[in-house]
Parts: sequence; C-alpha cells; structure tokens
Amino acid sequence: MRSSKNPLPELTTCLSPALLHTHDVCNSIVVIIDVLRATSTIAAAIKNGAKSVIPVDSIADCIKLGNQMEVITAGERDGKIAEGLTYGNTPFQYTEEFIKGKTLVLTTTNGTKLLHIALAENAKSIITGSFPNLSAVCEYVVLQKQNVVLACAAWKDKVNIEDTLFAGAIINRIKEHFFINCDSSQIAESLYNQASEDVFTFMEMKNASHFHRLINFGLENDIRFCLTEDIANVLVIYKDGRLVKGSSPRPSPILFTEGEGKGEDGSE
Ligand code: MLT
Repeated sequence: MRSSKNPLPELTTCLSPALLHTHDVCNSIVVIIDVLRATSTIAAAIKNGAKSVIPVDSIADCIKLGNQMEVITAGERDGKIAEGLTYGNTPFQYTEEFIKGKTLVLTTTNGTKLLHIALAENAKSIITGSFPNLSAVCEYVVLQKQNVVLACAAWKDKVNIEDTLFAGAIINRIKEHFFINCDSSQIAESLYNQASEDVFTFMEMKNASHFHRLINFGLENDIRFCLTEDIANVLVIYKDGRLVKGSSPRPSPILFTEGEGKGEDGSE
C-alpha cells in the first residue's frame, strides 16, 4: 500500500480470475489480459476504427443486444465461433472496412468473463491489454500514477502461459515506477525474461495449452498477431458499459486491409 515509506503506487499481478477477489481492485486500474485472443482482437477492432466494443458475459446476452441495437455480434467458446453467432474472435475479422464506425458486441470464454468479474468487484477503472497494445498500456499506467492490478484471464480459472508472459512484459518495462511486493509479479517477469527473445517458439516448446488448441484449429496467424508488440498500439478503456479508444500516447498506422490473414472458417 502507498505510504510515506512507499511513495510509489503499488502493482500486483493476478494469475487467475478465481483470485481477483484477493486484490485491491477498488483502488486500482485493472488491466484485463487475454492475449489469445480477446484483448488482442479488441485492440485490433478499436485500432481499425470500431466505435466501441461491448463485452458481454453470455451468448444469450450477445444475441439479445444484436436484436435490440444496430451492432455486430460476435463470440467464441473454446476457441471456436460460438453457436448462434456468425463472427468469432479472430483479429483478422475486424478490418477497417468491416468495423470502422460500428459497435461490436463480443463474448468470449475467459476475457469478457473476467472483465465482468472486475466490474462486480467494483474495479476503480478498467483497461484492456495484450502484446498488440503493450506500449499504450505501459504509458497509460505510468502516467496515471495509480495502483495497478494486472489481471490474467487464464483458461477457465487455470493459470496460462501467454497472459502471465504479457504481465511479465509490462512489469519488465515499468517496474521502476511501482512498488511491487507480489510473488505472482516476480513469477511473471522471470517467465517473460526466459521467453522475450521469441515468445512464439517459447510457447510452442512449453506446450502452452491454448496455443496448441488454436494451432490445431489452423489459427497460427492469429497467434502470431496476438504476440506481436504494438501492432495495434491503441489505449482501450472501459467507459459507460463499453470499451472505447482512450487517448493513445503514440499514433500508429491503420492495421491491415480486407483479406489479410486467415479467417476462423479457413477462408483466405
Ligand atoms: C478467451 O476468452 O478465452 C479467448 O479469447 C479465447 C479465444 O479467443 O480463443
């Protein structure tokens, strides 16, 4: 806790949604982390001009909102397009042509679920983070000078490698600006230091579970996008029920045009 002894804001890391209640989210910026793929896809959609992303907890809520509002609905369960929805959770779906000026209602297995847990725990504020917007996240939390909780979406409450690595990447960059007395943060940074040369190969060698699940679905391009630093370097902040573009410290070019990358249905 910040005190005269520790003038710096505090940073902690939560490796599983099941542990979020043990963190001081009411007095912290909560960074929702779901590298494969929710928070990477959200960064891509916002970077490509989506007006907002509405994260919902259930497929039923997603479909209901789709019937009530002029929005694009999308969802994923266990890495596949969710039943009853047309679009899924691949970043390559949300090109500028497809998403600019539109609102996306998104539900995913872990990422949007964790965001709703953070809301229920009265998080002071919420942003989303992944390798594609690493710099925007780091610059924002340093500038805010507030306590931070790096919240990993994991996989059905089980700790995963990719979210832990991203937490480690953030810590590695900004640790001198925070008081860190948290073993999960130490674990995250030391894992990242082992992997930082080549995160893709590290995850392959470590048999990361969701990594291989997506590979088996033919989604290697998605993984490579989700592990690429600053490819969608935009700040994404939660405001009034929606994820919207925050004031990004550094502008970067529009991402990619129609057709680049491979869709979840394997179409080129
Ligand atoms: C999740 O919420 O677990 C992920 O985003 C899953 C995925 O997209 O594959």
